[in-house]
Amino acid sequence: MGEFQGKRERNTFSGSLGFILAAAGSAVGLGNIWRFPYLAAKNGGGLFLLVYIILALTFGFTLLLTEVAIGRKTGVGPLGAYKSLKKGWGFLGILATVIPAIILPYYSLIGGWVLKYFTVFASGGIEGAAEDGFFTGFITAQWQPIIFHTLFFAATALVIFRGVNEGIEKLSRVLMPLLVVLVLGIAIYSCSLSFTDASGVKRTGMQGLAIYLIPSFEGLTFGKLMGVIMDAMGQLFYSLSIAMGIMVAYGSYLKKDENLPKSINRIEIFDTGIALLAGVMVVPAVFTFMGREAMSGGPGLMFISLPKVFSSMGKVPGTIIGVLFFLMIIFAALTSCISILEAIVSSLMDEFHWDRRKATIIASIYGWLLGIVVALGYNLLYFEYKLPTGDTGQMLDIFDYLSNNIMMPILAILTCILVGWVIGPKEIIQEAEEGGAKMGRRGLYVLMIRFVCIVLLALVFMKAFGFFA
Ligand code: PHE
Repeated sequence: MGEFQGKRERNTFSGSLGFILAAAGSAVGLGNIWRFPYLAAKNGGGLFLLVYIILALTFGFTLLLTEVAIGRKTGVGPLGAYKSLKKGWGFLGILATVIPAIILPYYSLIGGWVLKYFTVFASGGIEGAAEDGFFTGFITAQWQPIIFHTLFFAATALVIFRGVNEGIEKLSRVLMPLLVVLVLGIAIYSCSLSFTDASGVKRTGMQGLAIYLIPSFEGLTFGKLMGVIMDAMGQLFYSLSIAMGIMVAYGSYLKKDENLPKSINRIEIFDTGIALLAGVMVVPAVFTFMGREAMSGGPGLMFISLPKVFSSMGKVPGTIIGVLFFLMIIFAALTSCISILEAIVSSLMDEFHWDRRKATIIASIYGWLLGIVVALGYNLLYFEYKLPTGDTGQMLDIFDYLSNNIMMPILAILTCILVGWVIGPKEIIQEAEEGGAKMGRRGLYVLMIRFVCIVLLALVFMKAFGFFA
């Protein structure tokens, strides 16, 4: 349904459900399923959940609403949106286009890793996947990661090629409900597990669930609480896909008569709900088979610990759960990767007046090639680099660090300054209330965008340089 707005041809989402599912598709990604559970386990379970929910309702709501409103108000992709909002602020648009361009290559590469695990489980290779060294062997191989990245990227590009309605919206309408069903099913199964280990200790999924949900204040100091808050904020930021131009692009496809605050609330509920459920899915299972220590196992959780957990369930149940689990992550990662590519494509189309075909082809060649370079960062181009946070990393970690820790907080802080102090929050509130919608929490919004968000974001930014470690 190519609709015309003014003289220019521009797609719009067909209705609020289409928009909500597409935006939720972007928000629900690897971050929710792999990062959230281990952060929660590391940060005292329920305490982290509590902090996260409070931040989502205040900080998350403010930033998400602001970006979608900027997109809808200006009607263009991120590259043009900021300069159309205020002359002289066009550099923010450049930043908002460079960020997804940095994320796209490595996100697709990780999507390829998930695809690989899916094929391994689906072809009965569960025992191999659970062996020590399987993951490292795979990512350091020369060709396999490139091949899977290529497949994943091709799927992403194909959807973008088809456009906003026929591609993004149609796919999200199918995949997102399926994803909810899969997460719910696996979460219930995970809570029903029990296992007696070699030393005769019996652990159950329900015990794991209790550890996940009940706040632990043990040994809590002010410094530690700050650490929890910083982790929650960093996660929220990433999880809602804010400060990467994506929500501006999606906002630009939103019709004026859609109720914006209501849609924002629903996207947040969706994203946070899936993150909470992902914890119910992952934490009890890991606890049951691997004990308490393994739960905060960090980034290796998804590719190293979980295959071992699935294998401990026994060959048949483990294979079934593994296949469903990785299928679900493919859905989550694909809808996110699509949104990253769309942010770039929408900017190219608006700025250079290219058609979708041309913009998609050029952005795809770029993302695909750079993804190959990132993949080779574990092989031919291997080197170790010490990041300012103190961690060491490869090319992928450097890309991730630059975008998430440096550029995204900068873009978000400047967006808050632009809206809070230069054009004024009223402009955004007016846009949000366009078409008769009522925006609750108006005073809160003003307070957040002018003061609180800026302070919180400055803290996130400082964290990039090793503060609060
Ligand atoms: N929000 C996504 C997640 O939680 C991450 C993401 C990053 C999505 C970049 C789009 C772009 O995994």
